[in-house]
Amino acid sequence: MSALNKLAVFASGTGSNFEAIEKAIREGQVNAEIALVVSDKPEAKVIDKAKSAGIPTFVFDPKGYSSKQVFEQEIVEALHKEKVDWIILAGYMRLVGDTLLTPYEGRIINIHPSLLPAFKGLDAVGQAFDAGVKVTGVTIHFVDKGMDTGRIIAQEAVYVKDGMSKPDLEYEIQKVEHLLYPNTIQQLINRGNQA
Ligand code: GAR
Repeated sequence: MSALNKLAVFASGTGSNFEAIEKAIREGQVNAEIALVVSDKPEAKVIDKAKSAGIPTFVFDPKGYSSKQVFEQEIVEALHKEKVDWIILAGYMRLVGDTLLTPYEGRIINIHPSLLPAFKGLDAVGQAFDAGVKVTGVTIHFVDKGMDTGRIIAQEAVYVKDGMSKPDLEYEIQKVEHLLYPNTIQQLINRGNQA
């Protein structure tokens, strides 16, 4: 592995977690470099954010490929070219297949806005809100073939206070995400450097 850990951040949407990680790196809280931002949504806001930060992007539209294997092979080539050490899924709303998993096993992590194994899948905050739970939160986990499965690395609870709206809860969850993700990435880097 290179001295400075190289990250690829995968995102399909707004990219607020990308921004939090990028800021933490700039401020010296995470000893890494974002070598590439990968997005499966050509119109995603995260792409402009990456460009403004001067970070290379790999943007693809899955509809233009015959299979997941074909586009994941292209991604792997882009990752190898940039010598990426870690894949950071940050709102990448797509299951990862074997083509990407095999070369990066144990080096792909995901953030999910619930206390897994509760509320897997889409709109986890809405699922928790509608279920009326009093505690939900954020999970960071290693990625495997399943949807929001894989060994849990870190979790933090968020309390659903009386009178909170769904947007209030989303705001509180994202606040936690933006601290927990950079901190967890740095912990993994520290562990990797010790190994
Ligand atoms: C985040 O809240 C993340 O936890 C969630 O998507 C959001 C992306 O926001 N991921 C999932 O639901 C994965 N199953 P962002 O684009 O502003 O970082």
